[in-house]
Amino acid sequence: MNNRIPEEIVEDIRLTADIVEIISGYVTLQRKGKNYLGLCPFHSEKTASFTVNAEKQFFHCFGCQAGGNVFSFLMQKENWTFPETMRYLAERYGISLPEEELSQAQQQEQQARQRWIQILNWAGDFFHERLITAPEGALARTYLAERGVSAQMILDFRLGYAPDRWDALIEAMRKHQVQPQELAQAGLAVENSPQKYYDRFRHRVIYSIMDRRKQTIAFGGRVLDDSLPKYLNSPETQFFQKGRRLYGLHQAHQSIREKGFALLAEGYMDVIALHQAGWLNAVASLGTALTKEQAKLLHQITQRVMISYDADAAGIQAALRAGEMLCQEGLQVNVINLQGTGAKDPDELIQSQGEEAFRAIIERAETYVEFKYHTMMTEHTPRTIPEKAAFIARLAPDILAVKSPVEREGYERFLSYELGLTLEAVQREILAQTPGSSKLARKREYSGAIKDISVNNRDTINRPLDPTPPLATVPQGVYQAEWILLRLIDEDHSRIALLEAELGLSFWRIPAHEKIFLAVWEAWQKGNKRAFVYDDEEMLNVWHRILLKEIDTSQGDKIFRDCVRTIHNANVEENVEDLQVKMAQMEKSGDFTGAVALLKQIGERLRRDEK
Ligand code: CTP
Ligand code: MN
Repeated sequence: MNNRIPEEIVEDIRLTADIVEIISGYVTLQRKGKNYLGLCPFHSEKTASFTVNAEKQFFHCFGCQAGGNVFSFLMQKENWTFPETMRYLAERYGISLPEEELSQAQQQEQQARQRWIQILNWAGDFFHERLITAPEGALARTYLAERGVSAQMILDFRLGYAPDRWDALIEAMRKHQVQPQELAQAGLAVENSPQKYYDRFRHRVIYSIMDRRKQTIAFGGRVLDDSLPKYLNSPETQFFQKGRRLYGLHQAHQSIREKGFALLAEGYMDVIALHQAGWLNAVASLGTALTKEQAKLLHQITQRVMISYDADAAGIQAALRAGEMLCQEGLQVNVINLQGTGAKDPDELIQSQGEEAFRAIIERAETYVEFKYHTMMTEHTPRTIPEKAAFIARLAPDILAVKSPVEREGYERFLSYELGLTLEAVQREILAQTPGSSKLARKREYSGAIKDISVNNRDTINRPLDPTPPLATVPQGVYQAEWILLRLIDEDHSRIALLEAELGLSFWRIPAHEKIFLAVWEAWQKGNKRAFVYDDEEMLNVWHRILLKEIDTSQGDKIFRDCVRTIHNANVEENVEDLQVKMAQMEKSGDFTGAVALLKQIGERLRRDEK
């Protein structure tokens, strides 16, 4: 029996499972800066040296050198095999694994799904190719260029163009042996009269909707002018439900993790403009109000969502509904308000006022409760006591959904101040809205049992730098310069070329550093931003230590130059020393001309170096 788990599902699990969440089930973790710290579960210790890094999803113990990713953690901790670990994580994150033995119906469904994915991707390739190279795609190319969409975004989002013909796709798919009827089932053709089909998408810019594995699963098509309907979307099928997908997630999930929040927009164009402006954590729902499934999908990878909807009244109402959905799902929610900026959506703001304008407005984002409060106030300011009570009652579910008791009380105090009521009255009103059983728990909390659980964030992981480099022949300064360079390169891959130009590729003195560098370099050459070799344990260990060291990356470029200089100077010095040894040997052997020539060379070296 073949029960190998398909690569794409392993990948899906890896992208979904959060190492901090998983390890928190075993170890009490405290946040310290970018990392989480706790007592190591693999050896006994009294002071915490077990570190979890959320951004890069790995753990490392400074005490016993255990380390790895979420898979290796569970395998070591639970003594599970790889498939057992996959099964556990799949279940926990709601990802379905292929059954070990499929029934005939299931096999048929799986085959149908594979065929559907294949057809959608062929179609995606066709639209994409039409946009990029076909003469008939010229209008669409101009349209996107005029809207400021970069070539990189056209590639990253597999944008396309559906030609202005009734059978362009139908004809193109014949070479893949796809019949019109199959295209119709996949939502790409429409049956006109029996056995007569035509293309669903015609003369539209095509937005490919992809899953996290970058497989195309649906399309949106936009007209090139003001005609209606503005957008046409793939219909729902057995395999595609728009309420379970988010546009842009294929590009965004990594960045959502790294930034610690997702940016939620309304439109395809907003997502693209935001990514182009560097907000790689932007996603959008697919033309419908945010669903519970989408909120859950976001919650799988983050704790915080920043809503950035349109500025019009419909956008405000949609933001209120989405915010409520997200709060009920247990997420922290902020809302960006575009009113007063003159732009109708994030895309327009970025196009007309630049990336900085968007950054500025993000910094002014309100919490969901504040946003709702202000929106309700603009609609109708409560004046009488019953009106005020009703006002509080409407805000109560949102305040009750806030996890932090400190933040909750903050809102209550704010309301009491703004509405001119006592804090007790506000709290009683809110408490009255608490559904059933959780009332008692809340009551206890309010009667003074609140403990400030905010974690002491001041002491960061401040471990002494490794006192001596692992090789006695390597000077301390060079050793440090090497690992700092690796860190800086990892932060910004554009430094690789710079480093290569300055020092070449073979200056590394510490073999593990060199291995790490070559792995990063190779990934970068292949255009793969993040791939990293994960099978060399020693290298991994060294790499994790480097990633966990504290350096002031705001000064990155300056530190980079300093490190390059340190290594450069050490090399020069060493060359001079080598030359001196050679000179002494020549003198000894009677080759005085040679020795004098060397002496001259040494003098020049030192002078050059002084400049
Ligand atoms: N939408 C849709 N069908 C429509 C209109 C809108 O499916 N007839 C969906 C699309 O997903 C669209 C989103 O709703 O991206 C938001 O609509 P809108 O703000 O009008 O779209 P933008 O992406 O801002 O489009 P553009 O800037 O190109 O006008
Ligand atoms: Mn728009």
